[in-house]
Amino acid sequence: MEKLVILGGAKLSGEVEISGAKNSAVAILAATIMVKGKCRIENVPHVSDINVLIDIISGLGGKAQFASKGVVEIDCTDLNKYEADWETVRRIRASSYLMGALLGRFGHARVGMPGGCDFGVRPIDQHIKGFKNLGAEVEVDHGMVDLKADRLIGDNIYLDVVSVGATINIMLAACLAEGTTVIESAAKEPHIVDVANFLNCMGANIKGAGTDVIKIKGVSELHGGEFSVIPDQIEAGTFMIAAAATGGDVTITNIIPEHMESLSAKLEEMGVIIDEYDEAIRIRTNGKPLKCANVKTQPYPGFPTDLQPQVLTLLTTANGTSLVTENVWDNRFKYVDELNRMGAKISVDGRVAAVEGRPNLTGAPVYATDLRAGAAMVIAGLMAKGVTEIYNLKYIDRGYENLEEKLRSLGAQIARRNDSGNVRADIG
Ligand code: EPU
Repeated sequence: MEKLVILGGAKLSGEVEISGAKNSAVAILAATIMVKGKCRIENVPHVSDINVLIDIISGLGGKAQFASKGVVEIDCTDLNKYEADWETVRRIRASSYLMGALLGRFGHARVGMPGGCDFGVRPIDQHIKGFKNLGAEVEVDHGMVDLKADRLIGDNIYLDVVSVGATINIMLAACLAEGTTVIESAAKEPHIVDVANFLNCMGANIKGAGTDVIKIKGVSELHGGEFSVIPDQIEAGTFMIAAAATGGDVTITNIIPEHMESLSAKLEEMGVIIDEYDEAIRIRTNGKPLKCANVKTQPYPGFPTDLQPQVLTLLTTANGTSLVTENVWDNRFKYVDELNRMGAKISVDGRVAAVEGRPNLTGAPVYATDLRAGAAMVIAGLMAKGVTEIYNLKYIDRGYENLEEKLRSLGAQIARRNDSGNVRADIG
């Protein structure tokens, strides 16, 4: 079985460049389904979720491929199917965007219920509510969602839950609807703005993305063009935390500092020194143990749930007891058992984890229980004394481009191995 092997203790130092945002790129790739013409998308991370989406688009009759590093060329002019089977789409959560995109394009979409990381119930009721408001008939049977509309007609849609996925999905379908759609209580994550910018570049008329009211005036067609995806806020945050966790000195480039504000503020509260530049952030510590801090996840601009496992890992060796509250997902603490096996002291009660700081973690074999939990295990391995082996790498590969190469360039002792022998001597 493939595993990552980390010999902990190296302080990360140097410069690392952040890749394009995975959660933006998956939505943009799905959006190209509605475009008649060629799209050239730059700054696309080469991660497995993107490969799956390229396969899905090709399976639907579109042309999609990596033309060069970070550049995906897509032409969906001749895309001719509106059905994406369950076997394919269950592999990624972002396949839910096929619903909005195919519905917008054909007035008909048949898509398997989406998969993705498992942290509790992942409903799509708000997506469905939005599609129904636009005039679609929706049926769910045998794991497939069938959406049909003779005409999509703009409407006012109030989301009962702030949902990234529902906001993007409704925005997609509404682009090619008749009249104006207003999404109220919309999510405001940076990648929502990015998807809206992409659609506008291709001829859509979307205003207000990044606020909680988005107005979409339907247009009759989207045309091809070029677009560059924003830097990945969560990858950037993962490197910021890894740098702080190892007491290192790392400059992170291709980053939008304002997207990092909730994390930067929290790290500063813990005693991390942060210097912000136009498109870079330098992270270092004063060599002393970090202070405990309480963290509550919230939709953007709050503290991102996708950085919760990583920051909690950092807090395992902070001075004092920290409380980490997960407000977005029902069950995103599955990974704490792995950290406890590395010597952490964490107890979970419902949505709150109490993290009692210990002097250090110790290496152990651990499992990545989902994508961001996998990143947390990597950070734990970098912090720990001794060797950590991380299994279940498929999760990490879904969302981090060249993670171990990037960490190695900063001085981490990390290697990917297939064997089960003594790897300590191989690292570094
Ligand atoms: N929700 C509903 N009904 C819905 C949709 C969502 O109740 O119809 C609830 C969810 O159960 C959850 C909350 O609303 O409690 C937020 O869910 P959201 O729809 O915002 O999440 P998502 O679109 O499925 C995206 C990211 C996740 C990230 C969340 C929250 C993508 C592909 N995924 O998921 O990213 O955690 O937003 O920010 O963009 C990751 O990258 O590791 C990841 C899981």
